[in-house]
Formats: sequence, C-alpha cells, structure tokens
Amino acid sequence: MKTSILIVLLVLSISASGVLWRRVTALEKQLAAQSADYPLGEMMGYMQRYADKLWYAEEAGNWELAEFYRGEIAEIAEGISQAHVTKDGAEVSKMIGEMLPPAIEEVTKAVAARDSGQFRRSYQSMVTTCNGCHEATKHDFIRISIPAGSPLHWNQAFSVNPTSK
Ligand code: HEC
Repeated sequence: MKTSILIVLLVLSISASGVLWRRVTALEKQLAAQSADYPLGEMMGYMQRYADKLWYAEEAGNWELAEFYRGEIAEIAEGISQAHVTKDGAEVSKMIGEMLPPAIEEVTKAVAARDSGQFRRSYQSMVTTCNGCHEATKHDFIRISIPAGSPLHWNQAFSVNPTSK
C-alpha cells in the first residue's frame, strides 16, 4: 500500500518537473528573443540626450531639472542592465550594471549637494565611463564628450521657471 502511494507520488513529481522544465525552457527562449530585439542603440541615444540636457540644466543652475535628467540616465542604465543584452560577444547588460551605477552615484551626490565643482568632476568621470565601455565593447568610434556649445539648439529653456510655484 505504502509503496504504491510512493510510486504514485514519484510519478506525479517526475511529470510535474517535466512540465516545469518545458515552461522554463519556453521562458528562456522568450527572454533570449526579447534580448535580441532590445533597442540598445536607441536607449544609448536617450542616455546621450539626457546626459547633454543634464549638463545644460546644471549650467543654468536648475538643480531640480538636473536631478530629473540624472534620474532618467539612472533609469535607462538600470533597464539595460536587466535586459540580458549581449552585443558582438560583449555582455553589455552585465557590464553596464557594474560600470555605470558607481559613476552615476557620484553625480547623484553632487546634484544633491548642489555643488558645481563636484558636479563637473563627477560628470567628467561619468563620460569617461561611457567611453570606457564603448572601447571595451569594440565601439571606440563612439566618443561622448562634455557639451561645449550653447544649449540654444534645444527648443527648451533650461533655467529655473520664474513662474514656478
Ligand atoms: C556597458 C557598456 C556601455 C556603457 C557603460 C555605455 N555604452 Fe553607449 N554603447 C554601448 C554599445 C555596445 C553601443 C552600440 C549599440 C549598438 O550597436 O546598437 C553603444 C552605443 C552608444 C551610442 C550610439 C547611439 C546613438 O544614438 O548615436 C551612444 C550615443 C552612446 N552609446 C552613448 C552612451 C552614453 C552617453 C553613455 C554613458 C552615460 C554610454 N553610452 C554608456 C555600450 C555602452
């Protein structure tokens, strides 16, 4: 009697693990397909855009806006790090998760302290990190720099809104 119960349980658990196994395999395939479709170049383009605006916001003394763009960069970096992306053999998601957060953290501190000198140093080291990874992933032809021009090409005012309540 006991033995037959045990056998039934054994058969049940084997078939349940078979179901689980197929489910896990299906999910893995789905994940791999999603990673292959992940718009890495577009997300990078957004990071560049927000990094540019972050500089002009700080330059205009608009710390609230600077904090907004800092947050956008952090969010995109987090998104990429969770997307299991590899590119030309480089584990981009893993690398971005290791490289970028410490650099963004320094920018976060500078913005919180509203310290321009600290901000400029942390921004420079963030840009160095961006380019360090472009080199490490065989994209050294993509070189990010400190914005040098005027922010007027943007159809956006970076100064503090004088009518803001
Ligand atoms: C973990 C590595 C890594 C880090 C860190 C990284 N990038 Fe990239 N970046 C890449 C790779 C790989 C590509 C190529 C993507 C592709 O082939 O579509 C790329 C492409 C780009 C592009 C080209 C897309 C375009 O719109 O012109 C820009 C710009 C860019 N990155 C900006 C940045 C900025 C700004 C940072 C830092 C805030 C940064 N990247 C940090 C790996 C990285």
